[in-house]
Amino acid sequence: MDLERLFNVEEFETAARGILPEASYVYVSGGAGAGRTARANCEAFDRWTFMPRVLVDVQARSLETTVVGQRVACPILIAPYSQQALLHPEAELATARAASAAGVLMGVSMGANRSLEEIAQAADCALWFQPYLDEDRGLMREMADRAVAAGYAAICLTVDAPVGGWREGEMRHRAVLPPGEKWANMPERLLQPGAGRWLNGAGWDWGTLDWMRSVSPLPIVLKGVVAPEDAKMAVEHGAAAVVVSNHGGRQLDDTIATLDALPAVVEAVEGRIEVLLDGGIRRGTDVLKALALGARGVLIARAAAWGLAVGGQAGVQRVLSLLTGELSSAMAIAGVTSVEHVPHGLLVRRPS
Ligand SMILES: Cc1cc2nc3c(=O)[nH]c(=O)nc-3n(C[C@H](O)[C@H](O)[C@H](O)COP(=O)(O)O)c2cc1C
Repeated sequence: MDLERLFNVEEFETAARGILPEASYVYVSGGAGAGRTARANCEAFDRWTFMPRVLVDVQARSLETTVVGQRVACPILIAPYSQQALLHPEAELATARAASAAGVLMGVSMGANRSLEEIAQAADCALWFQPYLDEDRGLMREMADRAVAAGYAAICLTVDAPVGGWREGEMRHRAVLPPGEKWANMPERLLQPGAGRWLNGAGWDWGTLDWMRSVSPLPIVLKGVVAPEDAKMAVEHGAAAVVVSNHGGRQLDDTIATLDALPAVVEAVEGRIEVLLDGGIRRGTDVLKALALGARGVLIARAAAWGLAVGGQAGVQRVLSLLTGELSSAMAIAGVTSVEHVPHGLLVRRPS
């Protein structure tokens, strides 16, 4: 596939759909329930329009910023997402190499098909480790210690998945990993047929978060917050950042779209911790809108996944370069010179 002939994420998705087994395509694209939140995340961006400013010297534009203390070349990070071997034989290693080449940060899911140590070896970029929550604190501690030993910059706790979402697409088409591939970070005893139980985070509460902080020196990023009250709790319980996220609409259908949730979360944290957003980012202009509403940066999962499926490392890099190219162009035309200073007044609601 000639990657240079693909010009946006939608075209990458169409190309990926033509290549992937049906079940893998459904696994990535699907949402929970009727898929309304997965769609709403994207649609929320349509409801904002730009009010560009003119005669601003935009010759020098900076896309560089920091996220939880890590310098990144642009505010578009790779979200932790599982089972990348369904998409490409190099799986998470290809994504790690692409993130490194682009100078961005990568989230690594415990559901990866490469071990967190192998991914760290392949990467030359900052990494966050995202463990699945479990009742076995020994296991949680072991995962947290491995992340420190492998040089991860933060622990990303995904808190919107106490149980798995109701995903009919996955019930109908069960994705099967290629031969030789496995869940590389799961304890062997849970992988055995008849293990009797799977990971179980249903018992986690704010006290468990306090415990996690007490056993790990790494900053903790809470991913999956949409309620302003929870954002305040995150500040009080020492989180370094929150990701306004509904898991790409894969957990609770009819959850508020993330862009709609963002302003109240930004207001609630009063600048005390960083606020990021994911869900529905498909264009550079989406990124600019999220920044204008107060996000420090955004994360992408499906956009990166389509890139991986179509072209491995080069595909993910092409997606990142299209998004950053469009972001840079939009900044220039809107009169914005730095991703760190995107005024709220850049946006107006689209008239209904
Ligand atoms: C195929 C797939 C697998 C995912 N796996 C995880 C996971 O293991 N852990 C996690 O925290 N989030 C996971 N997510 C959610 C993403 O991190 C992210 O919150 C969401 O997908 C962002 O929306 P977008 O896909 O529209 O960019 C997954 C998303 C997808 C699409």
